[in-house]
Amino acid sequence: MFDVKNEIDLSAGHEGLIIGLFDKPEKFTGTLEKLDEQFEGQLRELVKAGDISAKFKNISKVHSFGKTGAKRIWFVGLGKEKEFSFERLSEALGKAYKALKASKLQECAVLLDSFTAEPVNGQEAAHAVSEAFALSTYQFHGYKQKSNEPEKKLGKVTVYSESPDKEEIHASLTVGLAFGKGTNSARSLVNIPGNLLTAKDMADYAQELASKYNFEVEILDKEEIEKLGMGAFLAVNQGSTEPPKMIVLKYQGKEQWQDVIGLVGKGITFDTGGYSIKTKAGIVGMKTDMGGAAAVLGAMEIIGELKPEQNVVAVIPSTDNMISGNAFKPDDVITSMSGKTIEVLNTDAEGRLVLADAVTYAKHHGAEYLVDVATLTGGVITALGLHTTGAMTNHETLYEQVLEASMEAGEPIWQLPLFEKDKERVRNSKVADLNNSPGSEGHAIVAGAFIGEFTEGTPWVHLDIAGTSTTSKEHDLGPAGATGVMTRTLALFVERFEPIEK
Ligand code: BES
Ligand code: MN
Ligand code: ZN
Repeated sequence: MFDVKNEIDLSAGHEGLIIGLFDKPEKFTGTLEKLDEQFEGQLRELVKAGDISAKFKNISKVHSFGKTGAKRIWFVGLGKEKEFSFERLSEALGKAYKALKASKLQECAVLLDSFTAEPVNGQEAAHAVSEAFALSTYQFHGYKQKSNEPEKKLGKVTVYSESPDKEEIHASLTVGLAFGKGTNSARSLVNIPGNLLTAKDMADYAQELASKYNFEVEILDKEEIEKLGMGAFLAVNQGSTEPPKMIVLKYQGKEQWQDVIGLVGKGITFDTGGYSIKTKAGIVGMKTDMGGAAAVLGAMEIIGELKPEQNVVAVIPSTDNMISGNAFKPDDVITSMSGKTIEVLNTDAEGRLVLADAVTYAKHHGAEYLVDVATLTGGVITALGLHTTGAMTNHETLYEQVLEASMEAGEPIWQLPLFEKDKERVRNSKVADLNNSPGSEGHAIVAGAFIGEFTEGTPWVHLDIAGTSTTSKEHDLGPAGATGVMTRTLALFVERFEPIEK
């Protein structure tokens, strides 16, 4: 999909060439200066005249009149050089790819060196070039009959760079593409409706991933889940005709099974709320309640591609949350795998219940560090809005590693507190060890506090993606719908992970 070449020559015959431009004309140096010479200085004139704009994310299309090896040049504005970042570069590239795709181009070239400036080096820019390509051209085809028509796809990119190290650039393009594709897989899982993605379907998907990447896989069926005493997980499944699945994938990148990272993803394939039923407006969209599971599976795909020297166990509790004569009810008291008993006050607070047993099970598989990802609460949307993932932790050093990965991935997270008083609220049941819903005040926080009860001292970070896993608006790096958020953060976190001294 990506070719790396040295210098674009007149016979290259590309349909389009993407060039980045910082907003100072003085930046016409290096490759750009050479190109401008081929145009007898006219490109510079076009910039001066304002026909080519270097404003951030501005796209200017220029016919090349055969003066370079592409029919048209698409200048994309990178804005002020001192504000440049990987994230801004990705957005600018995404916007450019989208413009090319809209013009029905099937291949293009990118002038890599025009996209490098502090703090983004050539390799990072190459990562952005392929990652943004995958993300911005992603489409979920849906189920309309006419969507079967063959479409013109932007499918080939030639990357030009004068850098002597083509191998390195190629390697970064491969990494970026893996990150983009893994995120897109997560997006697709989230976009599939609940009738077409049941717990069994999710398990089958995980199984396929395992075969492709040689992961060890374990899929617990209902009977095995019962045997292990996962009463919290089972309670949520009780009203369903679809059996639950506890999905486990293991990736071993170290000689010994030590320093194991546990990635736990909420896999509710549809959340009706159960007897604490959602409103008819609130229930729509609840097919996306497995966004955490999708992020974990997307990250596992990236891990399978890139094979970092780390050990990872992924645990996904999957079921829908339904109503029937068998369903669990408010006031029920259930016993989790950990032995802790739980008074159910709200059947719509089901995510924390399935995650409780999943966290216990991840530890059972040797997880020494835990990160869970879940579309857990509407409260996190009230607190942080739709662009920021809520985070909670019992371990600041582990949190810092997750935070760093999230910043690098361009997926912002923000920490919410977990004070003793918050923990007390989930512990104040009169009849059980815990209650699953002590009231709506700060409910993103108490949801986190509840899961924290099951970590029992294992370093842990909780990521609430209820606000960030989907978006109602198209954006530079993808369409409306699932975002695949936290896929890249998790994969980067795993790649960079440094065991913490205990
Ligand atoms: N899946 C929902 C959270 C959610 C809300 C995800 C909106 C995406 C968008 C979760 O299971 C839920 O129902 N949470 C309740 C918790 C409450 C009952 C304490 C909520 O947020 O209202
Ligand atoms: Mn719910
Ligand atoms: Zn839910």
